Amino acid sequence: MDQNAPIGIFDSGIGGLTVARAVHELLPKENFIYFGDTAHLPYGDKSVAAIQSYTIKICDILLKQQCKLILIACNSASSAAYELAREYVGRRAKVLNVIDPVVAYIGQHYSDKTIGLIGTKRTISSNVYRKKIDKLNKNIRLQCLATPLLAPMIEEGYFNNSISQVIITDYLSSPELQQIEALILGCTHYPLIQPQIEKFYDYKVEILNTASIVAEEVKQTLATENMLNPNSMLPYKKFFVSDYTQSFAESAKIFFGATVQLEHYPLWE
Ligand code: DGL
Repeated sequence: MDQNAPIGIFDSGIGGLTVARAVHELLPKENFIYFGDTAHLPYGDKSVAAIQSYTIKICDILLKQQCKLILIACNSASSAAYELAREYVGRRAKVLNVIDPVVAYIGQHYSDKTIGLIGTKRTISSNVYRKKIDKLNKNIRLQCLATPLLAPMIEEGYFNNSISQVIITDYLSSPELQQIEALILGCTHYPLIQPQIEKFYDYKVEILNTASIVAEEVKQTLATENMLNPNSMLPYKKFFVSDYTQSFAESAKIFFGATVQLEHYPLWE
């Protein structure tokens, strides 16, 4: 496989840019193509069947662009469509999700401990994190809470302010999220409210920076497969969205931490 080929990263929208940003910071020589399915956002409330069909279509687009690795940078899609995507893509590219690297990290650091998880309704109801953590057999208790207001709140620019603090405090005060030693941010958008969550727990609970854990996994996988790009002097980054609005363009800058040029690429012509 071509080492110069891009990494493909996709999400239901622009929240996955938090993961793309971590990948870009860790692997600055890599070319990458980002695809945000803004036409079908949010995935968190969609059926498994719908998410699976969008995922396959996006994999086709990324394969057409010769991606060497496809990262499903969306927790909802990772929980609903990872196995299917991996089977579909087969040997044409490596497929990674955002859940397995975090589960592995928990397994290494939190035996016999209680961990919290917040995410969309789709991610929480899938029970994927629980099944994978139970499989580790490390006596880790997982306490889960769906927090569906958080992603749209952040997308509207409500973070680091008093309104978002009220909503965050209300969710985190739930009985499920007490007596935990770490909290998994099981949604692409949540890194933007990480400081508020840390403060809520008075800095006594580790808030897992899932984006950087996932970026490490991408690096490891490329290194193991001998697919790291050795020589990209001027790596390219392309950002596609299935529906373009000015508001997506503005939010993209916040999630990626730098100006990005979004290009419209309809999922179905
Ligand atoms: N990207 C989604 C996730 O990580 C959050 C937004 C959505 O519901 O589409 O679950």
